[in-house]
This record gives sequence, C-alpha cells and structure tokens, in this order.
Amino acid sequence: MTGDATSNARRVAVVTGGGSGIGRASALAFAKAGYAVAILGRRADALAKVAGGGIKAFQCDVSNHAQVQKTARAVIAAFGRVDVLLNAAGVFPRAAAEDASPPLISEAIGINLIGTIHCCAAFVPQLLATNGTIVNISSRLAHQTSAGSSLYAASKGGVESYSKALAVELGQRGKVRVNVICPGLVETEMLRRMPNAEALIADRRKSYPIGRLGQPADIVSVVSFLASAEAGWLTGAVIAVDGGASSFGGN
Ligand SMILES: NC(=O)c1ccc[n+]([C@@H]2O[C@H](COP(=O)([O-])OP(=O)(O)OC[C@H]3O[C@@H](n4cnc5c(N)ncnc54)[C@H](OP(=O)(O)O)[C@@H]3O)[C@@H](O)[C@H]2O)c1
Repeated sequence: MTGDATSNARRVAVVTGGGSGIGRASALAFAKAGYAVAILGRRADALAKVAGGGIKAFQCDVSNHAQVQKTARAVIAAFGRVDVLLNAAGVFPRAAAEDASPPLISEAIGINLIGTIHCCAAFVPQLLATNGTIVNISSRLAHQTSAGSSLYAASKGGVESYSKALAVELGQRGKVRVNVICPGLVETEMLRRMPNAEALIADRRKSYPIGRLGQPADIVSVVSFLASAEAGWLTGAVIAVDGGASSFGGN
C-alpha cells in the first residue's frame, strides 16, 4: 500500500468493523504496510485481539452519531491525521417482508447506511487535509438478492448511491476519492452466523465460476489497491469482487 505523497508523516487508516472479518484483515494489512491504524467496533474483546503493533482500538457504535464524533476526536488526538477510511462495519438482519419491524429496520439501515454516513462525515475534514480516500463496503446482495434480504439490500444500495454522490462532491472540493467494494460471499463471522452456514457455503460455491467463496484476503487486496496512489484516477466506482458470481447466469 502506497499513498499520496503529501507528507512524510506516518499514514493513518481508520477501519470500522476492525474487530473481525474483512475489517480485521484490512487493519492487519494496513499495519503491515506501515500505517498507524484505528479500529472501531462495539465489542471491546474483539477489538483487543486485533490491537497492538500500530493498531489502536476505539470502542464505538457507528450508528450513534455522538459516539462517532467523540471517537473521531480521539483518533485525531491519538494520530493527528487520517489518510484512509474503510467502512467495513456491517450487520445482516434477515426478515421476511412483513417482519420488517422498526428495530430491524433501525439495525440494518442504522448501522450499514447511517453508520457509514456518520463515519464519512466525521472524518471528511481530515481526509480533505491529506487528499485521503474512502472505501465503503456494499454487497452483491444490493444487486442480486434473495428472500429475507430486503433490509440489507436497501441499506447497501444506499451505501452505493451515497458513495457516488460523495465521490463527486469530495472530488470537486478536494482530491478525496470514494469507492465501493461489492463482495460476494466471503467466509467471515457474518457468513458463519447464517442458519445452515455449511450447507449454504457448499450450495453457493457452485455459482462462483472461480470455484470457491471469498476469503477476507480477496477483499483486502482490492482495499489496498484503492487506498494506494496507483488508484489515483479511480473514484465513484462500485467494484464487484465476487469470484465472477455476478456474471454467472447458470449452466
Ligand atoms: N461476509 C460476506 O459474505 C459479506 C458479503 C458482502 C458484504 N459484506 C460486508 O462486509 C462488511 C464486513 O463484514 P464481515 O463479513 O467481515 O463480517 P463480520 O466479521 O461480522 O464483521 C462485521 C464487523 O462490523 C462490526 N459492527 C457491526 N455493527 C457495528 C456497529 N454498530 N458499530 C461498529 N461496528 C459494528 C462488528 O463488530 P461488533 O459487533 O463488535 O460491533 C464486526 O467486527 C460488512 O459491511 C458486510 O455487510 C460481507
């Protein structure tokens, strides 16, 4: 991971959902590449297992505006700058259409979409100062859905529209790039929490032309590229990283 050469100071990455899965793997990769890394999440124990070696944990519920604002101040106090914001925090509440209750709606939209907006808003001043970059995580389910995923799909569709609008605004106001990764199924806690996860993995594998589901490292390599200076003309993009699943029409 290389970055904008505006300063010799140590670059700083903020990773939401850094206590597990894609966020955890990305935080470790940023640290290995020499970044100072702030990881955000609700579970202190999960964050503590990732923290250390340049990674600092900040307990924060991204759906809570006041907590995000307070955390942003703490991150700036600790590190002094922000170069990369990766919004990987997310949840997948399943609900049949008629079961879309206010708590489930608040969970899906409040964390996946509003949480992403809270974090972008909180770190934009720092990102404008460093010509930094934002990477948001959507999902293939925003485009190709399944029963019970309407709230999740709506939240991720919102993330994509929001990110495109932000890319235009922040490209015009500064040189901040905003891109979206749209993963297929990745073997993380989120997938393993699904009912009949093993059967689901075995079944879904058939629709992945590459012949396997994703691993966090498959997403990290694209996060790394998007965070690098090599991606300097890439903004407002929604990039499918899904082993070809979104192109698969069945045999
Ligand atoms: N795995 C897949 O198949 C897949 C596919 C497409 C897209 N995605 C997306 O990829 C992203 C990462 O998911 P993952 O697969 O790595 O699952 P994961 O291991 O469950 O990671 C999700 C992370 O988000 C954090 N989080 C959840 N709610 C939060 C909140 N309110 N505030 C702060 N942090 C919160 C969780 O930590 P706490 O619970 O401790 O807060 C957890 O560390 C998500 O946006 C997900 O929607 C995943």
